[in-house]
Amino acid sequence: MKNPYGPIQAKIVNIEELSPINKLFTLQIKDNQIRNTFKFKHGQFFILSVPGFGEAPFGFCSSPTIKETFQVSVDKRGSLTSKLFELKKGCEVGIRGPYGNGFDQKKIKNKNLILVAGGCGLSPLRTIIQDANLHPEKFKNIQIFYGCRNPELLAFKKDYNKWNKNIEINLTVDTADETWKNNVGVVTDLLTSEKIKKDCVAILVGPPVMYKFVIQKLVELGLSDEDIYVSLERRMHCGIGICQHCALVNGNYVCTDGPLFSYAEIKDTPEGI
Ligand SMILES: Cc1cc2nc3c(=O)[nH]c(=O)nc-3n(C[C@H](O)[C@H](O)[C@H](O)COP(=O)(O)OP(=O)(O)OC[C@H]3O[C@@H](n4cnc5c(N)ncnc54)[C@H](O)[C@@H]3O)c2cc1C
Ligand code: FES
Repeated sequence: MKNPYGPIQAKIVNIEELSPINKLFTLQIKDNQIRNTFKFKHGQFFILSVPGFGEAPFGFCSSPTIKETFQVSVDKRGSLTSKLFELKKGCEVGIRGPYGNGFDQKKIKNKNLILVAGGCGLSPLRTIIQDANLHPEKFKNIQIFYGCRNPELLAFKKDYNKWNKNIEINLTVDTADETWKNNVGVVTDLLTSEKIKKDCVAILVGPPVMYKFVIQKLVELGLSDEDIYVSLERRMHCGIGICQHCALVNGNYVCTDGPLFSYAEIKDTPEGI
């Protein structure tokens, strides 16, 4: 019987330091046959492991249409991510997945898309942004609303000029420096009736504290509960609906039924957000 926890080997083919606490890893699955059949959707995640240092969930952050490699952006936190930060190009890691429901592209057919991110929350949304850059015909209008603690911590800064060609980027930071020319304040400041178009679907990824205020603002601006999606974070172990670590009070598991839920689905779930 196949071990559901058994990782497959992936090689680190590139590492970029994006901020003092964040690195972008480009991974390639070693086995040609597995690599050729490996597929993921926007919003899905995988479990990454380093022997002796444990495993943890990470979101894909490159376009699913790029087949040879995929990328993950990692914030340095505890033992696993600190070990990852020591690894060099050519080293191997274990991966299993993809897991989670992912985002159904049909939900945004003929709709404008609002991506609201806080901190490292921009990372999983980059799958959509890269996809829209490579295949603009698949999307209508896309607007990014992104907030971070300070300019140094903004994720994927080098990508913004490329994204700007067909995507509107709105930025804010809590604390500016002398180079900062955009908004200073919380991400909800950026969401105004002048900015938000009709017929929108919004996807929110960030710290839970951001969700309450952003949802409230989007509802005020006319979005329905069904058109607001949030990505929930939980301490996950198995990623496959067995261990119950990520169970919600309503019986859903974040790892298999989520991590993306519409606000309509979870608004009445205690401690859902
Ligand atoms: C679906 C999903 C997708 C994720 N995607 C990414 C990603 O793309 N990039 C990334 O850098 N991280 C991501 N994470 C978070 C990542 O899995 C954790 O940071 C991981 O635990 C780090 O492992 P570690 O051993 O280095 O740190 P640990 O020793 O596990 O923890 C270090 C610190 O982080 C806190 N922590 C760890 N996990 C969580 C959590 N889920 N919620 C709140 N606090 C937590 C701990 O309490 C501790 O303070 C994701 C998590 C989930 C659930
Ligand atoms: S992580 Fe084990 S059930 Fe979700």
